[in-house]
Amino acid sequence: MAELQAIRTTLNAHGQSHLLAFYDDLPPDEQQALLEQIAQIDFDALDELIDKFIRHPQPHTLPDDIQPAEVIPARPTDPALAAAHQKARKLGEQLIADGKVAAFVVAGGQGTRLGYEGPKGCFQATPITKKPLFQVFAEQILAAGRRGGKAIPWYIMTSPLNDVATRAFFSENDNFGMSADDAFFLQQGTMPAIGMDGKALLAGKGVVATNPNGHGGCLPALRDSGALADMARRGVEVISYFQVDNPLVRCIDPLFIGLHHQAGAGMSAKALAKREPLEKLGNFCLVEGKVTVIEYSDMPDHLARQPADNGMLRFSAGSIAIHLLSRSFVEDLTVGGKCRLPFHRAAKKVPHVGPNGEPVDPHEPNAVKCEMFVFDAMPLADRTLVLETFRNEEFSPIKNATGPDSAATSLHDQVRRAAEWLESAGLAVPRDADGQVAVALEISPLLADSAEELARQIDGTMKLDAGQSIYLGPPS
Ligand code: UD1
Repeated sequence: MAELQAIRTTLNAHGQSHLLAFYDDLPPDEQQALLEQIAQIDFDALDELIDKFIRHPQPHTLPDDIQPAEVIPARPTDPALAAAHQKARKLGEQLIADGKVAAFVVAGGQGTRLGYEGPKGCFQATPITKKPLFQVFAEQILAAGRRGGKAIPWYIMTSPLNDVATRAFFSENDNFGMSADDAFFLQQGTMPAIGMDGKALLAGKGVVATNPNGHGGCLPALRDSGALADMARRGVEVISYFQVDNPLVRCIDPLFIGLHHQAGAGMSAKALAKREPLEKLGNFCLVEGKVTVIEYSDMPDHLARQPADNGMLRFSAGSIAIHLLSRSFVEDLTVGGKCRLPFHRAAKKVPHVGPNGEPVDPHEPNAVKCEMFVFDAMPLADRTLVLETFRNEEFSPIKNATGPDSAATSLHDQVRRAAEWLESAGLAVPRDADGQVAVALEISPLLADSAEELARQIDGTMKLDAGQSIYLGPPS
């Protein structure tokens, strides 16, 4: 039980005694909850961040020598490379069949831009059956496990903002057909929101204002929650990481898994060609011989725009937050309960309680939020691999309420991809004069998660008529 006197002493030593300003006004249970919340905070680490981000902020500097990272082509024309891919794909399938692969979604974010109440994974994302994002992923993972003959466990990271609601949603939906043993929930950590004067803010008289510690917080969370130990018990070696916002993601990709494992990589990533030089994607770069993701906001303009010899962008490889992590690499990074990822700073508007207990709802950013980014782990790995993927195949996230990267653009892209898969399986898909798909289409992830799989499953004599609404459900 957290001790009032010990906590007062710590707070005084770190200039944060105001966190107990309203302590005496609180009922006993709230007093205790506040003490316990404060006892969780690492004030030495917080002091370092306050110094770095608030008292002595330094302009962001980049090393002089930044090169583009090497990207492995997804569909090589060179016969030797094509044969190597074929071998890697078989290896990936074997690893899946041997139970050495786990799926991992990070779903602890706030989803503020979408303006959706509730966990983003509950958002109804598909064109016809309106499946929530969580179901899209669950069905892919189930189907990949069935193909390999071994169930694939799924680790789902939440945060205090949505943990209860996420678990309830899975439970109400019978885990979308997954066994409860194979759906493992873990909660990420939080960081206090720090006012511009270096003082941690109170969200209420008895609650410190906090935010989730970023998707990089998944690494310590995997260890602290027992997820890594659970993976070790099951024999999992490769963790397939993806974000909650992208219904096109291929959650379990045998080629990617095989290449990663064959290379002995600690961490791998998928990259796609940026749409334009300043697209808001991280850039895959080579810094001091290490693959490093430089966020679009940190990438110097002249580099972002630099052409390559072939007229394309020199730094064209964008990050879409699809990774593979070796379990042993995550264990190394979090050994002794510490996580070796740096924190990034973001200025935010954080509602809080003022010095006289009055609620303050700021109109301007009034606080610094500290977050870790998972891609900062890449340069810490001995070996890494970046594999090309394609936007039309694997990336159409739902981030915004309207405009680009919204539900509307994602629905359009899901239908377009389904049409392309059907066409590559030899079916005629009705299109209008502009070449737009003229049917509503949805393919159940239980049926297929790739064009190749669909070609194996589909009845090639099927006829599609313009204006129809066609849902290709699970195999019977
Ligand atoms: C992110 C990447 C960007 C990449 C893009 C691809 C960063 C800083 N940027 O941008 O490089 O090109 O995705 O779509 O990551 N999350 C947590 N806990 C947190 C914060 C986030 O689980 O504390 C999860 C979210 O639930 C979501 C994912 O991380 O699944 C991405 O978070 P978000 O903040 O939306 O990232 P973006 O700014 O869109």
